[in-house]
Amino acid sequence: MTMNVLGYAAQSAKDTLAPFRFERRAPRPDDVVVEIVNCGVCHSDLHMVRDDWGWSFYPLVPGHEIIGRVISTGTDVTRFKPGDHVGIGCMVDSCRQCDPCKQGLEQYCEAGHTLTYASHDRHDQRPTYGGYSEKIVASEKFVVKVPDGLDLAGAAPLLCAGITMWSPLRHWQVGKGSKVAITGLGGLGHMGLKLARALGAEVTLFTRSPGKEQDARRLGADHIVLSTDEAQMAAVKGRFDLVIDTVPYVHDVNPYLPTLKLNGTLVLVGYVGGLEPFLSTIPLILGRKSVAGSVIGGIAETQELLDFCGQHGIISDVEVIKIQDIDAAYQRMLKSDVKYRFVIDMSSLKS
Ligand SMILES: NC(=O)c1ccc[n+]([C@@H]2O[C@H](COP(=O)([O-])OP(=O)(O)OC[C@H]3O[C@@H](n4cnc5c(N)ncnc54)[C@H](OP(=O)(O)O)[C@@H]3O)[C@@H](O)[C@H]2O)c1
Ligand SMILES: [Zn+2]
Ligand SMILES: [Zn+2]
Repeated sequence: MTMNVLGYAAQSAKDTLAPFRFERRAPRPDDVVVEIVNCGVCHSDLHMVRDDWGWSFYPLVPGHEIIGRVISTGTDVTRFKPGDHVGIGCMVDSCRQCDPCKQGLEQYCEAGHTLTYASHDRHDQRPTYGGYSEKIVASEKFVVKVPDGLDLAGAAPLLCAGITMWSPLRHWQVGKGSKVAITGLGGLGHMGLKLARALGAEVTLFTRSPGKEQDARRLGADHIVLSTDEAQMAAVKGRFDLVIDTVPYVHDVNPYLPTLKLNGTLVLVGYVGGLEPFLSTIPLILGRKSVAGSVIGGIAETQELLDFCGQHGIISDVEVIKIQDIDAAYQRMLKSDVKYRFVIDMSSLKS
């Protein structure tokens, strides 16, 4: 039987979110049904609601930093039982057969992964709806375990903000002795500081906002560089093995290239689209430097991150909100006024 579920949806790119009832699929043998406890608010939700990337369709129920409790499991489910605390991130399916999928890199599935919202299920073609809702149904293959003891609201942002930083940190083998910089202190950025520090790196924050120094140090930064200050930028010339740039809108990335060491890499994770002004190849050629991109992380890698966070007691710094306050939260996010992730208490849906 399909499930009637209450959520919050945008009906068009111009609308604010409002209550919306919709059907979730009847659970399949490999599905778990999850009652959603918390859902993080990612800047991607805002991009998608406003159709910034041109691939949104409506009604759109955002939310891909989902933490919940399993309420039932299909007959083929082996890893979960009712009562377990679980997480669901940005993907709910992939082809499971291509090379990237076989390597646990479902986010790079050659057939395209199925997004948690604003996608279509690959079996029944129903639209997918995200975590700003009461319940979700997903294949156990795309569900991860939340380690005991992790605060549930604080763990929610690990499912997107956390894994989006963890995956490049691990891919570029950050550890003791690495020098890493994170650009932008928001949801992704603050997880980047915490995780890079926990991996043993020396960590720098690039920010355009004076006044974030104290928080940045508490979150794990050894150094803070105001990216609008040329002298401060010049002082870190040739410093970094890896810079991870989380800035959500088009911006000039050229000033970051001289801050890389020989063989260093600038990884863009925030902005999706064409760069302006042009990208100069001179520092790339003369310093064998790379500009790369990265999208979220695979399911095994997400479990690895949650386990790491369980062992190190790492969670996101969150402001818990009611679903009714989502529009105000989006407005504050646009002003970079978030410390450092909004997370929705989904019990507020019933109030
Ligand atoms: N690649 C992926 O897999 C992936 C996954 C999740 C999210 N994303 C994308 O990553 C970006 C960041 O997401 P987030 O949730 O971390 O966003 P966020 O919480 O809003 O943080 C973004 C930070 O970027 C800085 N910034 C610089 N210029 C800005 C501008 N013009 N407007 C707003 N902020 C600006 C700000 O930091 P300072 O004040 O310190 O400068 C701000 O706090 C979004 O575009 C999101 O869609 C990508
Ligand atoms: Zn996200
Ligand atoms: Zn695949």
